[in-house]
Amino acid sequence: MLKERLRCEVLKNRVMEPEQAAQFFKKGMTIGTSGFTPAGYPKAVPLALAKRGKKGEKLDLTIITGASVGEELDGELVKTGIMKRRYPYQTNKAVRDAINQGKIEYEDMHLSHTPQWVKYGFFGKIDIALVEAVAIREDGGIIPSTSVGNSNVFVEMADKVIVEINTSQPLALEGVHDIYSPKNPPNREPIPITKPHQRIGTNYIPCNPKKIVAVVFTDIPDKTREVAPIDENAKKMASHLIEFLKKEVELKRLPKNLLPLQSGVGSVANAVLAGLIESEFEDLMIYSEVIQDAALDLIDAGKAKFASGTSFTISPSRLKNFYDNFDKYKDKVLLRPQEISNNPEIIRRLGIIAMNTAIEVDLYGNVNSSNIMGSRMMNGIGGSGDFTRNAYLSIFTTVSVAKNRKISSIVPMVSHHDHTEHDVDIIVTEQGVADLRGLSPKERAKTIIENCTHPDYKEPLLEYYHDVMKNCIYKHTPHSLEKALSWHKRFLETGTMKK
Ligand code: COA
Repeated sequence: MLKERLRCEVLKNRVMEPEQAAQFFKKGMTIGTSGFTPAGYPKAVPLALAKRGKKGEKLDLTIITGASVGEELDGELVKTGIMKRRYPYQTNKAVRDAINQGKIEYEDMHLSHTPQWVKYGFFGKIDIALVEAVAIREDGGIIPSTSVGNSNVFVEMADKVIVEINTSQPLALEGVHDIYSPKNPPNREPIPITKPHQRIGTNYIPCNPKKIVAVVFTDIPDKTREVAPIDENAKKMASHLIEFLKKEVELKRLPKNLLPLQSGVGSVANAVLAGLIESEFEDLMIYSEVIQDAALDLIDAGKAKFASGTSFTISPSRLKNFYDNFDKYKDKVLLRPQEISNNPEIIRRLGIIAMNTAIEVDLYGNVNSSNIMGSRMMNGIGGSGDFTRNAYLSIFTTVSVAKNRKISSIVPMVSHHDHTEHDVDIIVTEQGVADLRGLSPKERAKTIIENCTHPDYKEPLLEYYHDVMKNCIYKHTPHSLEKALSWHKRFLETGTMKK
């Protein structure tokens, strides 16, 4: 086992217990870790670091990951006071609470920006790269596990590298990765990807073994989540979206097998992909961040030919089947660094159909994906902006109401802006589809009210719209600054947006 997993002779005397490896971490360091939507993140060393925190040590670490990571890293380091700053995305309750209570500093950023910021030096020096792997090659090359995220960039830029070899992750994953790192401007060159399945790099992260100061063995599995069951609203949204895509094919604006698909995570995203299984579309391609259960189902059903992503976020109940049948999937899936999976140049070139989820949408098509009632951080923008801004078609889905109809997800003005009206093409709710392409703001407002708004809120929205059209002197994007956020204010004061 050890021989297969640790093939580099000089590293054999650097195998140590997680507690020993945790001693490399000093106060105020910046740490880059593997991990993306909680897959392929380090577990044993963070748990050992948390023990130092429990003893009262204040390390004040800056933690930069690919995206969200599991409880062993995010939850434990925040609860034990080890983490001071966090970039670029999280979905952990303890971290979310600490962010909202102002206890840790968080910059929520486009996931394609993080790797280049590391390479530009905008975060300062990366002291330690802590990455999970399935094995280390003879030459020190690191074979990642279920995600790539920013691991290659952290390994490239860090002073020291610590590798967790996770034996719960199968060696069969070797060969599924494609590692490529663009140079910084002014030496950057075009990224040679013109099809989702193209390989352009190495199947390991190049690393000089001299940089690897510790190798830790662990068998703690990824803590991915079960996919929420597909409910009626998700089914309706999926069906509206598929009808919309069919019409685009009829109008010859999309080829019969569509264009490469990106879908966010979560139940609606999963429902949309699941809906495609029943559809007439074939030979689909996926170029996304996350390869989740539904992507495997599409491959199983013979509907999808290939899925490129930066992580496998497979639910616990599906994972065994995925690993047991990995040979079947191996030439149909590929994991790239997030600098490539989320790269605007490639997204624009491939003509991605981007499907992401909104918390709320406003009359003019602006989207809030991250901050509830304008200031409570949920997760972050994640990769949604990378895809939305550069896609062939930018689609947002949201249920038209939340919290037992006390909240309308279509509001006069969003309480936080993640995606502006200029980037959003299509809104889908369980009520219907609003196609905003080519429409002026006033026309968008009418389309959104008519097609996407819940009946409980249609009249109040029309009332707002007619009021501002009458009373605002500017008729292009008319608003009442007094009333635009009054629905949110009312909810916060009374528990409902309804009058
Ligand atoms: N106003 C206030 N709260 C709202 C709301 C609204 N308009 N719409 C939903 N909510 C609340 C829900 O009630 C729920 O609250 P709870 O946690 O107290 O139960 C919470 O927001 C999450 O809603 P849910 O319907 O469970 O959302 P989800 O799991 O489908 O996630 C996002 C939706 C937007 C939070 C999630 O997709 C996300 O973080 N997106 C940004 C990142 C992203 O797009 N990543 C993928 C890119 S590749």
